[in-house]
Amino acid sequence: MSNSNIRPESMARITTRALADAFIEEQVARVRAQVGDKKVLLALSGGVDSSVVAALLIRAIGRQLTCVHVNHGLMRKGESEQVVEIFGREMDCNLVYVDATDRFLDLLAGVSDPERKRKIIGKEFIEVFADEARKLEGVEFLAQGTIYPDILESIKQAEGKKAVKSHHNVGGLPEDLKFDLVEPLKLLFKDEVRVVGEALGLPHAMVYRQPFPGPGLGVRCLGAITRDRLHALREADAILREEFDRAGLAEKVWQYFVAVPDIKSVGVKDDSRYEGWPAIIRAVNTKDAMTATIEEIPYAVLHKIVARITDEVEGINRVLYDLTPKPTGTIEWE
Ligand code: XMP
Repeated sequence: MSNSNIRPESMARITTRALADAFIEEQVARVRAQVGDKKVLLALSGGVDSSVVAALLIRAIGRQLTCVHVNHGLMRKGESEQVVEIFGREMDCNLVYVDATDRFLDLLAGVSDPERKRKIIGKEFIEVFADEARKLEGVEFLAQGTIYPDILESIKQAEGKKAVKSHHNVGGLPEDLKFDLVEPLKLLFKDEVRVVGEALGLPHAMVYRQPFPGPGLGVRCLGAITRDRLHALREADAILREEFDRAGLAEKVWQYFVAVPDIKSVGVKDDSRYEGWPAIIRAVNTKDAMTATIEEIPYAVLHKIVARITDEVEGINRVLYDLTPKPTGTIEWE
């Protein structure tokens, strides 16, 4: 591990706009010095880290940057559209948008083991991204949204500590794609990344977005993914997010989402038997995702969510609220 990967003790915590502006200015100069007039590639998921890197690099090197957004078909409702809107339209950015939904869902058909699903999604993600990278000429650098906790995690893993789940980032590109890395956020903690993101003009909702796993809705559509259940999950999750926003809970709760298992129960709708899946709601608070507590959601909000999901989402006939902390539950169900 090189020293440039260790945060100096003297480095001030970036908590204000002025500190963020100074950081941006310094990184813009560094990136320009590092890449010169060469081209840089970035996998832009739309998450906080990759979005902030994109905005920073657009400021530093403009159209020398190409962002590739791979829609794996497992994004939340409206997310890919937001990436295209902000980076493709509002910012002066070279954005390649790839709708790879069919590639991913075809590979995942019939696969129910969570770790196999993760591996398939991670591997395919790299392949789709590599396909796009090969189409571009003269790219010498790969930018990444690595942040300091990622560096600390890899130090832990190098010391032989085992992870509970195999989280993936863009790593391990094929041999023929050798790039030098540009990682302007690698010494920052998440709260600092958000301050920098706002200073760069990214929308508040994007910068304060709750964490979302790389495999996306793939690990929330429990068991073998089907398109109809995935669709129901996406719609139910969008309702949950909307109601949390309305109730002012969005920034009080660290992570909240819906999971839909592959089981059906008997219900009744319009006086007829109605078999459907349950939507499972999870809303947790945590500092570091290693342990998590359950957020107490007011019953009025829960009732509204239950009413809307069962009323508006085809295929769902019950809503369950998971009250299990971590441990023993993990935050995600898979
Ligand atoms: P767990 O379920 O392990 O989740 O308690 C802890 C945090 O990690 C996120 N998570 C993932 N993030 N790839 C990711 O990038 C993954 O495969 C993955 N699995 C879980 C989870 O959403 C929570 O924030």
